[in-house]
Amino acid sequence: MKKYVLIGDQIKKYKKIINVSADKSLSIRWVLMAAQAVGKSIAYNLLNSEDVNNSLIAVKKLGVKVIKKKNLCQINGVGLNGFSIKNNTVIDAGNSGTLARLIIGVLAKSNKTIVLKGDKSLSKRDFSRVIKPLKKFGLSFKSNKNNLPIKFKGTNYLSPIQYKELKGSAQVKSSILLAALNTPGKTKVRCFPSRDHTERLFKFLNLPIKIKKNKKYEIIELTGQKQFSGFNYKIPGDISSSAFFIVLTLLSKNSEIKIKNININKSRTGIIEILKKMNAKIKLINKKIYNGEEVSDIVIKSSKNLKSINCPTEINSRAIDELIIIFLVCAKAKGISYFKNIQELRHKESDRLKLSANFLKMIGVKVEKTSSTLKIHGNPNLELNKNYIVKNFMKDHRIFMMACIAALTLGGKWKIHDPDSIKTSFPKFLSILKSIGAKIN
Ligand code: S3P
Repeated sequence: MKKYVLIGDQIKKYKKIINVSADKSLSIRWVLMAAQAVGKSIAYNLLNSEDVNNSLIAVKKLGVKVIKKKNLCQINGVGLNGFSIKNNTVIDAGNSGTLARLIIGVLAKSNKTIVLKGDKSLSKRDFSRVIKPLKKFGLSFKSNKNNLPIKFKGTNYLSPIQYKELKGSAQVKSSILLAALNTPGKTKVRCFPSRDHTERLFKFLNLPIKIKKNKKYEIIELTGQKQFSGFNYKIPGDISSSAFFIVLTLLSKNSEIKIKNININKSRTGIIEILKKMNAKIKLINKKIYNGEEVSDIVIKSSKNLKSINCPTEINSRAIDELIIIFLVCAKAKGISYFKNIQELRHKESDRLKLSANFLKMIGVKVEKTSSTLKIHGNPNLELNKNYIVKNFMKDHRIFMMACIAALTLGGKWKIHDPDSIKTSFPKFLSILKSIGAKIN
């Protein structure tokens, strides 16, 4: 792919129906669970991206057979802890925090040493958040300051744990639940809310999981070591990928888009809640269920009178991957928007709090940032006419896509580096943009 893309024209008005790529969280979870099922599993519409392909390569290294066809992927599962692993097997998680953190849980019972590595961005991210609970199960770890590469080893003598998960991280919660699946007895986790795909998948597979929720946190109990059979799974579109087209349409003039078959799991739809509070016109139609996950089409129209938001902190986790594109909407909204308790943004594929604040400053938007908050002084008349260069963003796919949407809706001449970053989650991003009329070179 090219080193950069050039955008010099705003997108013209459009009315389109699109499909975005499949959900990344669900795709990775399917791969990891299908590998541990007894017998054949098939996924329809599995995301074809680097993060998911690295997940497939990882399970192949564990002795699992994977057959990829055009719109279908088959995995011949080996049952719980049925992997055949050589000592010092290297697993390369690439850019994917989800794969890296979840696979340690999957391998909790393997008594072979595994070397887990990742790309430059992933090697900067903190793994103490999973190392801490997994050590309690009995795993052992060697690393330099809790960063990748990490050497770890599971054990045949896992003991169930009781744990308080305080980050509101689905990756941590899922890593614990996957380790618990391999552990005899009952594991109990008390966690702050985060996406609940792992729990839904466990329920779909009839695994013995119990969940009690209250306003602040949830308590999950899982009794381990129950084998489960191979399963077929249909994967809907990713709301995190849709987010860029939702905002493109919202900030364009006289346009409308329908995005088909998107996962609208309540733990993921914070962007819709936030944008509706800001006056956006969004409808969810044609609702249905795919394997325990809610799915619908999203219809959105351009909006002229967006207003700022004082974002309730309880929505943050439901919009964690969408906050940076929501910040762009705030830049065009009337009034000052305020986000609190958003420190987790600093621990993503890049420091998204710092990079998005710098980005907004570059386009002339006044921002006030602390280590956990962001205030954005919006301007409904924001129009750009200078030259802008976006680079050095740790190849963070979502920063790249956010910059493209800014360029297409606000004006100016743009040079945006590292388009290959989209390969991790949404390889079709640029081609879909072009199909609705965007001029990108
Ligand atoms: C994910 C959880 C979130 C999210 C990430 C995917 C998952 O991370 O940011 O893109 O699939 O479990 P955290 O669990 O660290 O919040």
